Amino acid sequence: MEKAYLIFILAYLLGSIPTALLVAKPFGIDPRKHGSKNLGATNVARLLGKKWGLLTLLGDMGKGIIPMLLALYFFKNHPQKDFLVAGVGFFAFLGHLFPIYLKFRGGKGVATAAGVFLMLCPVALAIALVVFILAVKITGFVSVGSLLASALVPCLIPFICPNRIDFYTALIMAALIWFKHRDNIRRLIRGEEKSWEKNQN
Ligand code: G3P
Repeated sequence: MEKAYLIFILAYLLGSIPTALLVAKPFGIDPRKHGSKNLGATNVARLLGKKWGLLTLLGDMGKGIIPMLLALYFFKNHPQKDFLVAGVGFFAFLGHLFPIYLKFRGGKGVATAAGVFLMLCPVALAIALVVFILAVKITGFVSVGSLLASALVPCLIPFICPNRIDFYTALIMAALIWFKHRDNIRRLIRGEEKSWEKNQN
């Protein structure tokens, strides 16, 4: 069990790495001070363009995927495997939201959660991704796609990957993603939400 705690801590520390800041800083831009002020791929795309947004997206997803791969390897024969693997993903996600290196002020968690659910329930993630893409195409706002897709995953899991632990993990992650999007929700209601495209705001 000590090994489990160590992997939880490692997952949290990895999740805490602020990809958006690392990508944007060499350009002299701090995403926390511009655009939506969020440390995420959308804001990097908005500030620096699609290519750098994509790099941030991959980095943030990797923060979910890498600890999950480690957990699947280390706990493959563990009697509480499901709980430990989901727990590791959850701690990586928490690291992104509340990073130790940045006074616990991090991003909104969508890409890291996607990395976690790619490993836990890829079919649910694939369906959520389709909904995400359609929502962004129709509305022009990434936040709408993120809100809908994150809410959809816990609804799909009981039908696709019936595992109670994965369901509760997805439910709590969705609640935290919605909480982190509270300013986006306010802006959407007021009709003031920002486009993700560069030079569109
Ligand atoms: O994943 C974040 C996205 O849903 C919204 O990003 O920068 O528009 O707040 P942003």
